[in-house]
Amino acid sequence: MSTLIANIAQLVTLDPAEPDRPIRTGAALVIDDGRVAWVGDAAAAPAADTRIDAEGAAVIPGFVDSHSHLVFAGDRVDEFEARMAGRPYTAGGIRTTVAATGAASDDELRVRLRHLAAQSRGQGTTTLEIKSGYGLTVADEARALRLAREVTPETTFLGAHVVPAEFVDDRGAYVDLVCGPMLAACAPHARFIDVFIDRGAFTVDEARHILSAGRDAGLTPRVHAAQLEPDAGTALAVELGAASVDHGTFLTDDDVEVLAASARAEAAGGPPATVATLLPLVEFSTKQPYPDARRLLDAGAAVALASDGNPGSNFSTSMPLAVALAVRELGMAPLEALTAATRGGARALRRTDVGHLGVGARGDAVILDAPDYRYLAYRPGVPLVRHVLGGEGLGR
Ligand code: NIG
Ligand code: FE
Repeated sequence: MSTLIANIAQLVTLDPAEPDRPIRTGAALVIDDGRVAWVGDAAAAPAADTRIDAEGAAVIPGFVDSHSHLVFAGDRVDEFEARMAGRPYTAGGIRTTVAATGAASDDELRVRLRHLAAQSRGQGTTTLEIKSGYGLTVADEARALRLAREVTPETTFLGAHVVPAEFVDDRGAYVDLVCGPMLAACAPHARFIDVFIDRGAFTVDEARHILSAGRDAGLTPRVHAAQLEPDAGTALAVELGAASVDHGTFLTDDDVEVLAASARAEAAGGPPATVATLLPLVEFSTKQPYPDARRLLDAGAAVALASDGNPGSNFSTSMPLAVALAVRELGMAPLEALTAATRGGARALRRTDVGHLGVGARGDAVILDAPDYRYLAYRPGVPLVRHVLGGEGLGR
């Protein structure tokens, strides 16, 4: 079954095979069997089974949101209000959500998760990573990942989100649980393993231990680092060949150089780079300073933008708003921000088949209610996603 998308004012392909032509005008797109089958001048478009009229709008690749925590119950809107009144964000709030999640049935969690995933898709996200991390027992972490797998293939085991209250006097025992029985129960349902490195969460040494165990179990590491203060998490992420290091609110010059060196090594034929994944919706929702994306981009580091949708530090799953903030607050040009939110996210998930609309990629595309992709930043908060094609399992 083939579909021709016609009458496109601006087609943003971000095709890695055409680095000098990320945007086409007067172009059309054919999607066949869920894959991009043809891109070219509209006048030369081949026949297709169906036709979608883009009515003079811009078409972009679906967003690749490489960081979210959407399996949970309850909310923390009171905590949000307190933050807006000046209270700082702390990792400890995670335990509130752990208690609510533990008390919820599978079906309650499933209904909430499906709703949130469909909402993400409605805002243009077609690939979505989801982490566990509000279970913190063997059974509840495995349950979170099983449920997440129902809506996305991109799942991450985050048993090391925070040390549960019953282990605060014996952190070592919890690290052993995460590396042992919890990892064994979760690895079959996950692609990645993550650790929250923070003064209220895990140390760099604990993280090294946990991520190494995950790697031995076949999972790819990723890390939460430098969210609340500088730490050695970025160096650890690169040392372990992590797919990404996320937050980076307080990256040092050395961190930036380590990330840039990892991107240079990939360009020279080495292993894939560790991607710096920026999460500006978190800074928005915690009143923290925004990270400086310019510094990373100018140094040559690989950069992604993601939502970090979660009930605590940020409960927005809007990639369009993340793009707008990246342009307004992080120093990114509109095309850099869109690229980070699509191809950057794909890179952070070690995927080459999403995040762009080159021939052979998944046919995950968004028709905007705008003639130009820059409207994503120019008209923040306005619902500019008109039509979403594709989207791996995210519901309709
Ligand atoms: O990415 N940093 C750790 N985890 C989440 C916050 C989770 C929470 O506060 O519930 C984050 O910001
Ligand atoms: Fe997170």
